[in-house]
Amino acid sequence: MTAPAASTSNTPPAEATPNRGAPEWNHHHVLDLDDFSVQEIETVLNLADRMREVLDRRIARVPALRGYTIVNLFYEPSTRTRASFELAGKVLGADVISVTASTSSVVKGESLIDTVRTLRAMRVDAMVMRHSMAGTPYLASEHTDASIINAGDGAHAHPTQALLDLYTIRSHLGDLRGKRVVMVGDIAHSRVARSDMWGLTALGAQVVVCGPPTLLPRGLRASDRPAHAESALPPVTVETDIDRAIEGADVVMALRLQSERQQGGLLPSLHEYARLYQVTAERLARAKPNHLLMHPGPKNEGTEIAASVAAGGHSIIEEQVTNGVAVRMALLYLLSGRELPSDTGEAR
Ligand code: CP
Repeated sequence: MTAPAASTSNTPPAEATPNRGAPEWNHHHVLDLDDFSVQEIETVLNLADRMREVLDRRIARVPALRGYTIVNLFYEPSTRTRASFELAGKVLGADVISVTASTSSVVKGESLIDTVRTLRAMRVDAMVMRHSMAGTPYLASEHTDASIINAGDGAHAHPTQALLDLYTIRSHLGDLRGKRVVMVGDIAHSRVARSDMWGLTALGAQVVVCGPPTLLPRGLRASDRPAHAESALPPVTVETDIDRAIEGADVVMALRLQSERQQGGLLPSLHEYARLYQVTAERLARAKPNHLLMHPGPKNEGTEIAASVAAGGHSIIEEQVTNGVAVRMALLYLLSGRELPSDTGEAR
């Protein structure tokens, strides 16, 4: 699959600006998708369409967020999320700085709350935060009036990854209602899987999660039927057999083994896991002929995904990365509270 051709136009075409009028948006922070309405998700995706047009220009720079300051505050490693937020801010003319916990005053014992308050005292408008502890961005949001964006908290949530996944699927399939989206791998420790479940089910997709019982979240194990309504997760179908899961899939998403969050003893061996759960060409033959193959990255080829399919004709993994910049541009713009310009190229 190929990305849309780059545009050298100075203005987005009219059909890329469906968001005029009064798009629904009620967030000062982005913590997870479980509190997003369908209309708010669509507001982000529609604006991301316009941002993608800006990103594809020959000179991808507009002054829409001039005077807005963003800090990347990462307590865990990242390539895609961190770099794409930095680029998203810069494309829109914002000032972007990065603080890495390992080289900050965190190592001298400064608390998360003090760090957040210190950055806000410097007039930072938005903080993009990644942390190994679930709930950390929620805590931060209670101690600052800057916008907090969850860039991944433990195994809990990764809402901006979910939005870029939704955007990428929508750009290929259009309406997601009834589409079979299969996530395969370490569901239990995956914040991407959790946020994707909220977003995909909100848009009407039929979500199937697949993995060994030890890598399925509590509440979804030992079940072949939709998860219980009271569960902390939205209703999804659970399947431990990968061939049955992939049968008829519109989208297959492979997920990495989150070894940094696993306790030992969950798998007999990596070799055994790969034999039973690796997404391969043979297994993808059961999916729909025009299926999409996704992975949020970083991937471990040869473990959860075969290198040949990751680089194959159904893979949209690099599109996910490109779209991540556009979706994060849209989120930053919405959080800034600035009026949506009729042409994203003109700051108001
Ligand atoms: N998908 C994702 O969050 O990748 P990074 O860890 O590289 O940011």
